[in-house]
Amino acid sequence: MLAAGLGTRMRSTRAKVLHELGGCPLVRYPLAALAPLGPVQVVVVVGHQAELVRAAVLASGLPVETVLQAEQRGTGHAVQCALPALGDFAGDVLLLYGDVPLVTTATLERLRDTHRAGNADLTLLTMRFDDPSGYGRIVRDEAGNVRGIVEDRDATPAERAITEVNPGLYCVRADVLAPLLAELRTDNAQGELYLTDVVGLAARAGRTIASLELERPQELAGINTRAELAQMEAVLKDDLTRRWMDAGVTFEDPATAYVGPDVRIGRDSVIGPNVVLRGKTRIGEGCRIDGTAFLVDTTLGARVHVRFACVAEEAIVADDAIVGPFARLRPGTDLGPRVHIGNFVETKKAKLGAGTKANHLTYLGDCEIGPDTNVGAGTITCNYDGSTGKKSRTVIGARVQIGSDTQLVAPVTVHDDAYVGAGTTVTRDVPAGALVVTRTPARVYEGWVVRRRAGQKAVERKAAAPKSAKRARKKTAKRVKARTVRSRARRTR
Ligand code: UD1
Ligand code: MG
Repeated sequence: MLAAGLGTRMRSTRAKVLHELGGCPLVRYPLAALAPLGPVQVVVVVGHQAELVRAAVLASGLPVETVLQAEQRGTGHAVQCALPALGDFAGDVLLLYGDVPLVTTATLERLRDTHRAGNADLTLLTMRFDDPSGYGRIVRDEAGNVRGIVEDRDATPAERAITEVNPGLYCVRADVLAPLLAELRTDNAQGELYLTDVVGLAARAGRTIASLELERPQELAGINTRAELAQMEAVLKDDLTRRWMDAGVTFEDPATAYVGPDVRIGRDSVIGPNVVLRGKTRIGEGCRIDGTAFLVDTTLGARVHVRFACVAEEAIVADDAIVGPFARLRPGTDLGPRVHIGNFVETKKAKLGAGTKANHLTYLGDCEIGPDTNVGAGTITCNYDGSTGKKSRTVIGARVQIGSDTQLVAPVTVHDDAYVGAGTTVTRDVPAGALVVTRTPARVYEGWVVRRRAGQKAVERKAAAPKSAKRARKKTAKRVKARTVRSRARRTR
């Protein structure tokens, strides 16, 4: 598989095969389609951002090896670079491009089977586009035999009119491939070694060439520009939502649902508008996602209700739980059956037991909470000491009642059946069945408001008084003071 090019037409600093479709790098798609065929060896040619592409390829989980094409001198040169890795392999070689993501396993199987059934030296797939621009054209003789492929940029006007094009997937005998590659020349518009020239060379050498035209050309469309990437995203999105609808899932607005290729959704689940499901997200049966949700690598059990506007990453939610509206489940969240997480609640590395509820305005991080506990509004697990970067754990038992506006300063444990009074800062472990309160006693000042308002009025009067009056008042004050001093002096005498 060839994945060394930069993809100049993407106008990007990122290698083309790393651009994402359905939240997954392009390069992973053909590999995933290839895997079920059980190839004895998979070689990926990398070049631009070789390390990043290699990492993306290895993340596919296939036994893949990569070879480096240090300088991108064309698709033919890329295959030349891969040849040494094949060693003395003498079977059939599938040649694929990394920028053709929607190719299916079935199509690759048909390519291989056509090749073997026809006892061919080289087999290629073809397809027809009303607008074939950009693609290599399939040149045939009067008898309909493939004579070669001519690239768009090298084609004569007559050749440009050909609508049968090359999707770039070939099956070729290893022993036939090597000598043909050695014959490639750079005498073309791009000054590159074209893999496509191998076809013409094979024809001239009298090799048996088989071809198979595909009915569904959009499957083999290549991606060379951002516009093509966007079109492909739309096709993929459509395919995926349709697949899940066929499997018994309701989409209230399929046009705004984004389901990644590795997502699984159970029967009778309902997906509302504006829902993005990414990565290895798993939705169980009978779930409901109201709308405007972003779920990545998240697992929902059965009958989970995700209310409007929630974000979840690497979270696990068990059967019959209710989450949201406006909840954020961060990595390491593990919610038991029937848990309720309400609005403006954030969880991270938080394991909550069955039936536990945290319904309002709460942060639960680095904590474990037993079953049937109620976490009041405005509760915060204070897990971070602010300097060392160390996160401490809060442990809360079963059937605990945490009053509103509670801070749990970790590390701390609140044992089973304990009560935490509203407004408490818990800094010590609380034994089972105990009550903890750190609330300052409330003081009530009767009539305070009337007095305060009166005081305020006096101040306002003073501020509003004219300057001359102020001066007069100051004079009087001085006189009063002088009088007091005199009378005091008299008394002392
Ligand atoms: C290629 C075909 C064209 C076909 C089209 C189908 C050639 C010469 N042309 O054109 O006939 O219709 O695909 O999509 O093969 N690559 C390398 N090293 C290089 C150059 C490219 O690894 O030196 C890789 C790219 O990363 C890419 C693939 O080969 O994955 C195809 O290269 P690209 O430049 O996209 O070829 P196209 O112009 O699309
Ligand atoms: Mg291409």
